[in-house]
Amino acid sequence: MRTLITGNWKMNGEQAWTIKPAGFDKMVPIQARKHVDILLCPPFPYIRELFVASASRNIAIGGQDCHASEQGAHTGEVSAEMLADCGADYVIIGHSERRAGGETDADVQAKAKAAFRAGLTPIICVGETLEQREAGEALSEVESQISGSIPDQADSFVVAYEPVWAIGTGKVASIADIKDMHAHIRELVGAETRILYGGSVKPGNAADILATDNVNGALIGGASLNMADFAAITRAAS
Ligand code: 13P
Repeated sequence: MRTLITGNWKMNGEQAWTIKPAGFDKMVPIQARKHVDILLCPPFPYIRELFVASASRNIAIGGQDCHASEQGAHTGEVSAEMLADCGADYVIIGHSERRAGGETDADVQAKAKAAFRAGLTPIICVGETLEQREAGEALSEVESQISGSIPDQADSFVVAYEPVWAIGTGKVASIADIKDMHAHIRELVGAETRILYGGSVKPGNAADILATDNVNGALIGGASLNMADFAAITRAAS
């Protein structure tokens, strides 16, 4: 299974960041990342230009969310079809920062169906809060999010395990906990599905995390804004 290194820029960036794929490609040329898939997920307004800047460099582009409908009266929303039309191949769905704003498993499932409809690969995010982990409910919470968020009839998808308490905090789940959780997710989603870890992945911890059983890549926030860090993580995956 090919490793997938994904940068989630969240609500960061500007027009000038369209030079970043070229900078990344200089640091880790295609030859040096033959066995790794690279994906950048910028804010919506930058998707098309990032796609144009990335296509020849073997870097894929994804959205950070989509609406469940194909089109219509949904002010401010963007459909999976529009993302595909702008060059995206992937879309992140159900990130904890969106779940915290009220997005439910049913919403995430509807968006995953929209992604399939548009020919995109959804990256379905799951993860427990600190309270749930401390209460011994991490595995059951993630299992329940997976069963509620993944459509019964699913095309190819990716799961990202992101413990909520590890996002943007500098705290990383222990290798033992990542191993346990990913083994559990593996049983639920089968052998073909890539399972990413996310939550304070940095150049210094990436090699250990990526060497863990059933970790097929990483979903990176903060460290993906800096191409030197993103390149170092990619080298750790190669
Ligand atoms: P950080 O890498 O900044 O912790 O963010 C992780 C994340 O939420 C990626 O989707």
